[in-house]
Amino acid sequence: MMKGNILVSGGSGYIGSHTCIELINSGYKPIIVDNLSNSDIQSLDRIEEIAGERPEFFEINLCDREALNQIPKSLRIDALIHFAAFKSVNESVADPLMYYHNNLESLVNILRFCTERNIEHLVFSSSCTVYGDAKELPVTEETPLQKASSPYGNTKQISETIILDYLKVHPELNTISLRYFNPAGAHPSAKIGELPRGIPNNLLPYLTQTAVGLRDELKVFGGDYNTKDGSAIRDYIHVSDLAEAHLKAFEFMKSGKMTSNYDLFNLGSGNGYTVLEVIKSYEKVSGEKLPYQIVDRRPGDVEKIWASTEKAEKILGFTPSRGIDDITKSAWEWEKHYRKNIEKSIS
Ligand code: UFG
Repeated sequence: MMKGNILVSGGSGYIGSHTCIELINSGYKPIIVDNLSNSDIQSLDRIEEIAGERPEFFEINLCDREALNQIPKSLRIDALIHFAAFKSVNESVADPLMYYHNNLESLVNILRFCTERNIEHLVFSSSCTVYGDAKELPVTEETPLQKASSPYGNTKQISETIILDYLKVHPELNTISLRYFNPAGAHPSAKIGELPRGIPNNLLPYLTQTAVGLRDELKVFGGDYNTKDGSAIRDYIHVSDLAEAHLKAFEFMKSGKMTSNYDLFNLGSGNGYTVLEVIKSYEKVSGEKLPYQIVDRRPGDVEKIWASTEKAEKILGFTPSRGIDDITKSAWEWEKHYRKNIEKSIS
């Protein structure tokens, strides 16, 4: 039985497409809104191949408020998951207005849209970047936020504030912000995964592109941090676990158990791994050596951060089931599959 329509902004992107698969598998109908600025229309084919259903798709730029009228008023929307945003730290430093405009204007339009269409449940993609260089670890939802270190990070902090202010005068709208730690890995089918345009900024795509020979070597940013092996620590969470957490968040809102109309949760694994440990995990699952070199620290990087998962576990009933080896293995399988089968068919 179909449980409800869920509008997924950014649904053809990396986390969005994995979430659409979870939604279909759990009996929901995802409807994608995306302007394809950082994803390909082919991801709809792959969602269909994996989950057996093709999500309805609207090519809309969320900064264009009028364009949202393309979504028929007769369509009942049970919840909205708002993934769509720009997410590169470097790019945001180079072009801050592009980030403030895109990430904030689209959120404003999404909130208005929720009210216009009587949507009661909203899930917002936030980031652990809001914690900055946290003084206490693990980071809990109570950990004080630090000044954002990039315009991108600032858009996430401001977005959370915009939502809070709006909810005060719109008690009928329930919202959960999910603060992702480091999403990584790919669907076990290897048919969808992370596909950054250009040279990857993030560790896993850079690592897997090096593994398939597309890059000469991985540069490990910093070998002199105060950690067990000198490289920086992050909390990597498998994208399929992350996808499941969105469903749990929506179902929690629907259950009526929220004590107010806003809540927020960390989504991480609760475990921190150094960059060198991630490389070791890849070498273990692949049986291959990865060429890498330790270089200077990357400006703006924090030394270590990982999540407290207690709140998400206790309130949402969410615990990630996949570990670091599942992440490196699935990311590597996806990279190989993409280079061998998909890239050639596109170019
Ligand atoms: N790293 C390398 N070499 C690379 C890429 C990354 O050594 O080529 C290291 C980084 O220095 C860091 C770790 O791998 O220690 C993870 O780096 P990512 O770029 O994958 O992720 P970040 O933790 O820097 O960024 C993530 C999210 C951002 C968010 C940020 C907040 O991707 O959206 O956390 O800290 F803003």
